[in-house]
Amino acid sequence: MPGLFDELTVKSVTLRNRIGVSPMCQYSSTDGMADDWHLVHLGARAVGGAGLIIAEATAVEPRGRISPGCGGLWSDSQIAPLARITSFLKKFDCVPGIQIAHAGRKASAARPWQGDHHLTEEEGGWQTIAPSPIAFGQKLWKVPTQMTVEEIGQVRNNFADAAARALEAGFEWIELHAAHGYLCHSFYSPLSNTRTDRYGGSFLNRIRFCVETVQSIRAVWPEKFPFAVRLSCSDWVDGGWTLDETVELAKMLKSEGVDLIDCSSGFNTPDYKKYPFGPGWQVHFSEKVRQEVGILTATVGLITDPLQANSIITQDKADIVLLAREMLRDPYWPYRAAKALDVNIRDVAPPPYSHWI
Ligand SMILES: Cc1cc2nc3c(=O)[nH]c(=O)nc-3n(C[C@H](O)[C@H](O)[C@H](O)COP(=O)(O)O)c2cc1C
Repeated sequence: MPGLFDELTVKSVTLRNRIGVSPMCQYSSTDGMADDWHLVHLGARAVGGAGLIIAEATAVEPRGRISPGCGGLWSDSQIAPLARITSFLKKFDCVPGIQIAHAGRKASAARPWQGDHHLTEEEGGWQTIAPSPIAFGQKLWKVPTQMTVEEIGQVRNNFADAAARALEAGFEWIELHAAHGYLCHSFYSPLSNTRTDRYGGSFLNRIRFCVETVQSIRAVWPEKFPFAVRLSCSDWVDGGWTLDETVELAKMLKSEGVDLIDCSSGFNTPDYKKYPFGPGWQVHFSEKVRQEVGILTATVGLITDPLQANSIITQDKADIVLLAREMLRDPYWPYRAAKALDVNIRDVAPPPYSHWI
């Protein structure tokens, strides 16, 4: 029975442990470019011993950025600064992953610490796009333009181009961001998709954009490297997307060559207050998808304690645990976990640190 510090091999890639850094937007790029901040942010967590780091939601076109400070891979000029980061991560036996994304109707927003609201064009914002002209609501008030079928095809191609650039930048793990109310999720959720063409209505029509995007990425992303998809496993709202639908979608994604489902939830409605936040609050999604689909899963959400994280793995509820905010508090969390689980620090920290602690 594997535990938190056991290796996991997916395709040709072996993670040294089951601890992953969840993708976290830094809102710190200029023109979508990674810089020294990203090197230090991600590099510290590789030195910290995580087996996998998934770089932030990285936009496949400028319109797809959540904020003007988000990273991007829509241009070849964005490859080199990311290549510097992947090369650093690999030196510490950390698998470099990246999440590629399009923010859809939630794009064009101020950085969270600057208010999180939609920006007008005078403030540097832009017109958003989505399956249907339905605003997210509250601070994200912009009514998106309904995408034409031609635009749907262009955005899908942009995902494939970004995946090809990610490969060139040295990433060995790709994740499609299809959660949290961004473009893919807004297609599959009935809350945000009222289309009457082949991209809306029935379950098969609502998931079409996600499945076709996966196919486009699959065509350029090599078989030898893992391909993950982050899903919002439930909208947590009556009449919204459900866990049963997630299971059906995950089965289809598996048959399209997806290796792992990263099981998150929610954020396609501004009403977060109903979510049952608490330790490991999304683990049951991962457990169900893993069991019913027979696919590798990652779980995320208020995982902070080493024993909690280890038991998720030993109880077969997920194959990888992803930590976000706890890794911001402590990039060396894996060292703490090693101590708590009686694992040799030499297997976790590099010699300049492990020799002394
Ligand atoms: C600063 C910050 C940025 C985030 N950016 C992303 C992102 O780029 N992509 C994504 O899928 N989730 C993003 N999230 C969500 C996290 O990946 C994670 O799912 C969530 O924070 C729950 O995990 P936690 O309880 O360990 O923080 C972000 C969270 C934080 C705190």
